[in-house]
Amino acid sequence: MEMNDTMAAQWARRIIVTGGAGFIGSHLVRRLVQRYPQYLIINVDALTYCGNVANVADVANEPNYRFHRVDITDYEAISGLMRQYDVDGIIHLAAESHVDRSIADPFIFAKTNVLGTLTLLQAAKDHWSTSPAGFADKRFHHVSTDEVFGALPLDQPELMFSETTPYAPHSPYSASKASSDHFVRAFADTYGFPAVITNCSNNYGPYQFPEKLIPLFINNIVERRPLPVYGQGLNVRDWLYVGDHVAAIDLVFHQAANGASYNIGGFNQWSNIDLVRALIAEVDRQIGREPGADLDLITYVTDRAGHDLRYAIDSSRISRELGWKPSLTFEEGLRITVQWYLAHKDWMESITSGAYREYYKQMYENR
Ligand code: NAD
Ligand code: DAU
Repeated sequence: MEMNDTMAAQWARRIIVTGGAGFIGSHLVRRLVQRYPQYLIINVDALTYCGNVANVADVANEPNYRFHRVDITDYEAISGLMRQYDVDGIIHLAAESHVDRSIADPFIFAKTNVLGTLTLLQAAKDHWSTSPAGFADKRFHHVSTDEVFGALPLDQPELMFSETTPYAPHSPYSASKASSDHFVRAFADTYGFPAVITNCSNNYGPYQFPEKLIPLFINNIVERRPLPVYGQGLNVRDWLYVGDHVAAIDLVFHQAANGASYNIGGFNQWSNIDLVRALIAEVDRQIGREPGADLDLITYVTDRAGHDLRYAIDSSRISRELGWKPSLTFEEGLRITVQWYLAHKDWMESITSGAYREYYKQMYENR
C-alpha cells in the first residue's frame, strides 16, 4: 500500500526492521507489532535462503504491519521506503549470519553485512537530514554479535567480553559484522548520526533456521540422524533465549543514549558437547525415549576452520543501566524450544523440503 506523509503521521513511530523474516527479526517484529499498536512496523527483508514470511504469519494481517521484499544493498529502494513512510527508526538485523557459509563464500557477507549496512546508514542520513527535526527523535539500532570480539581462552573462565573489549574478528562472518559496526560508529562520530549498537551472544529458540546447532540437532535426534560435532566439542558458547534478546533490543532502542553500545548475554556458558548431551536428554524425554538413548548419534567430525574457542558476554552494563535481565533459565528455554520444534514439525518439514519458499507467493503475490 502506498502511503503519503499525511497517512504516515497517524503513527507515533514508523520503524523499519530489516531481516524481519529471519530468526531473531521475526521475534522482534512480532513483539513490536503486538506491544506498540501505535507504531507502524515495516518489515524489510530480501527473503534469501533463510528468510521465511511464515515466521511472521501471525502478525501479517495486523493493521500496523507492512512487508517489503527489498534488498538492503539497494539504495534507491531503501530511500523510497524512507520517504514513503517517513521512517524515523531503523532496527537493522538483516545479514548473512552463518559462520560456515562465510568460510565457503565470504563475498556475499561483505556485500550484505558491510555494504548493506552502509546503504541503510546513508539512506537514513539522507532522509533524516532533510526533515525539520533533523536527527532529533530518530534512531538507528544496529544489531551485532559477540563474535566481533574474537575468542577467549578456555583456561581463564573469568574472562568475558565487555563493551570496551577491542575488536578481533576471526571468521569472514565476524570480520563483516565488525566492519559494519565500525561504519555505524563512524556515522555517529562523523555526522552526529543517532546510532546505537548491541552485541549479543548465541541465540536459540523457535524459528531458527536449521543450519544452526540447536534446531539442526533437534531435528536430527528426532530423525535418528548423526549429530556432527565439530572437533572435540570443547568450544564454548554463551546461550540466550531469543525472546530475551528481543526484549533487550526493545529496551535499548527506546532508552539508550545516542552512540551507546550494549553487550547482551545470558551468563550461560556451555561447551558444545555438554550442550548436545543436554539437548539429547531433553528431546528423548519429550518424545518418550529413554533419556540418553540417542547419545550414540554423536559423531565427531572435522573442526570448523578457525573455530573460535570460547565466547562469553559480560552483560552487566545493560542490567545496571537499563534494568534488563534474562527472563528464562537455560533449562526452561531449552524445554520450551524443544517443545516448539516438536509441535511444529510442519515448519521444519517446509524448510527441509524447500516448500517454505512458496509461502511468500501465497501470502503476497497471489492476493
Ligand atoms: P537469520 O539468518 O535467521 O536471518 C537473516 C535475515 O536477513 C533473513 O530473513 C534474510 O532473508 C535477511 N537478509 C539477508 N540478506 C539480506 C539483504 N541483502 N537484504 C535484506 N534482507 C536480507 O539471522 P538471525 O540469526 O536472525 O540474525 C539476525 C541478526 O542478529 C544478524 O545481524 C546477526 O548477525 C545478529 N546476531 C545473531 C545471533 C544469533 O545467535 N543468531 C547472535 C547475535 C547477533
Ligand atoms: O555468538 C553469536 C553468533 O552465534 C551469531 O553472531 C551467529 O549469527 C550465529 O550463527 C552463532 O554463531 P555460531 O557459529 O556460534 O553458531 P552455530 O550454531 O553455527 O554453532 C554453534 C557451535 O556449535 C559452534 O561452536 C560450532 C558448533 N557446531 C555447529 C554446527 C552447525 C557443531 O559442532 N556442529 C554443527 O553442525
